[in-house]
Amino acid sequence: MARLEMMRFEGVRVKMLQKAGLLLFVFSIVLVNGNYFGTNQHKTDQCFCKLNGAIDDCNCTVDTVDYFNNVKVYPRLQSLLVRDYFRFYKVNLMQDCPFWADDSKCAIRFCHIKPCQDKDIPVGLKGELPRNIHVNESPSNKYQANLQIADCDQNIHDHNIELGYLNTTISSENYKEFERWQQHDDAQDNFCITELDTGEYVDLLLNPERYTGYKGHSAHRIWRSIYMENCFRPDNSPHTFIQSSKIDAMCLEKRVFYRVISGLHTSINIHLCSKYLLSSQGRLEVSPEGQWGSNLGELQKRFAPERTGGEGPNWLKNLYFVYILELRALAKAAPYLQREEYYTGNEVEDEDTRLAINDILNIVRTFPEHFNESVMFNGGVEAQILKEEFKQHFRNISRIMDCVGCEKCKLWGKLQIQGLGTALKILFSGKFDKYEPTLMSFSKKQFFLERSEIVSLINSFGR
Ligand SMILES: *[C@@H]1O[C@H](CO)[C@@H](O)[C@H](O)[C@H]1NC(C)=O
Ligand SMILES: *[C@@H]1O[C@H](CO)[C@@H](O)[C@H](O)[C@H]1NC(C)=O
Ligand SMILES: *[C@@H]1O[C@H](CO)[C@@H](O)[C@H](O)[C@H]1NC(C)=O
Ligand SMILES: *[C@@H]1O[C@H](CO)[C@@H](O)[C@H](O)[C@H]1NC(C)=O
Repeated sequence: MARLEMMRFEGVRVKMLQKAGLLLFVFSIVLVNGNYFGTNQHKTDQCFCKLNGAIDDCNCTVDTVDYFNNVKVYPRLQSLLVRDYFRFYKVNLMQDCPFWADDSKCAIRFCHIKPCQDKDIPVGLKGELPRNIHVNESPSNKYQANLQIADCDQNIHDHNIELGYLNTTISSENYKEFERWQQHDDAQDNFCITELDTGEYVDLLLNPERYTGYKGHSAHRIWRSIYMENCFRPDNSPHTFIQSSKIDAMCLEKRVFYRVISGLHTSINIHLCSKYLLSSQGRLEVSPEGQWGSNLGELQKRFAPERTGGEGPNWLKNLYFVYILELRALAKAAPYLQREEYYTGNEVEDEDTRLAINDILNIVRTFPEHFNESVMFNGGVEAQILKEEFKQHFRNISRIMDCVGCEKCKLWGKLQIQGLGTALKILFSGKFDKYEPTLMSFSKKQFFLERSEIVSLINSFGR
């Protein structure tokens, strides 16, 4: 009986490694069947069984997240992410590293990006995107009324009515001008360095995140500089990671920052273990496309407690934390995201995308709000300074991504950093706190997210 169950588990595990997205699913299996790891079972499986109970700095448990993700979110996300709007990501991979001479470009063929054929890019994504500004709509009464309440209240009270008169005839040139201002204002809220209108489209489905062979000094330097020079950390902390015993001594905001970075790191590591280049492991039949599959040994090396000083399970839990944080950002931005047009130029496809995003966001909103960002950055001036530091650190990390020497790693690194930056912007810019979908185009323009921010947010959540 035990033998049979063990075999069944092995089967499940293999599946997990094939599809890292199902990782959370397997955790829940392990939890339900926790006794697999009793007495004399594989010692090496322990890194999974520790995952239960509360997720730090959020009011929720591993099991509630597992269930919600596996049953409700994961299947929907998988079908959403293959849609044109989400699979084409505009990114600039040619930026120079601002911090050091990029000495070691990864020459391994699996590091390279397969370029998009121009004919594959949806027509609607090629030129200037028609944003959601309805220039031709005459200003509606609703718009006019809101504008007066919002901006002219003072005038009406302090001066005479004529001074408060508002000419709502806005020319399209003015709208363009507003958009430029808005972009400038928005940039102040960004957690990432914005790359305005540079870059090329990459088809994410053609360039899956997986092991590339990029490692060694160059790869280590990236993580080292992120953890050692751009994370908040206790003094005299010797390792790149922060020992769990020391994390609690940091304030909530700094812990959150660390957990976000650690969770991202975990996600990247899991993905490269699950899609490992097997042909490099002494298998002779190397197909030109390479052979990819799960590498359990690699996963153990990176997360098993006995190989990570007991920290591996904490790193895995930080992945849950990032999940919760992005989930909360999606819920918070849902009213906004549900009004986005998801324009690619293909009406049928676009309508399907809108329905799919609506569906998933409605699901996301049913999750109780287990991460509460409103308790962060709450201590007056000091908190504001901390918030600014938090932002600067994160922006700096977004620039470090330009130092990644492997194109494909850079692509997924930039995408996930931008996705996280978008989540942080949604949570902390304040602009989404009071977003009212009824205010139509005016509000829409005011709370603008770039297409690439939406694409990166949904894709990193998918990771
Ligand atoms: C945490 O969640 C539980 C159950 O959802 C709830 O009863 C409790 O009040 C929450 N605690 C906080 C601090 O929000
Ligand atoms: C409002 O502005 C438009 C465009 O600038 C102008 O043509 C129009 O005469 C203005 N209306 C009033 C009442 O000032
Ligand atoms: C940005 O990161 C680089 C590389 O780690 C580091 O040398 C630099 O001090 C950081 N700058 C800021 C402002 O944090
Ligand atoms: C979040 O925290 C704030 C401030 O402590 C509190 O007023 C609010 O009710 C909390 N929200 C949730 C959903 O727990």
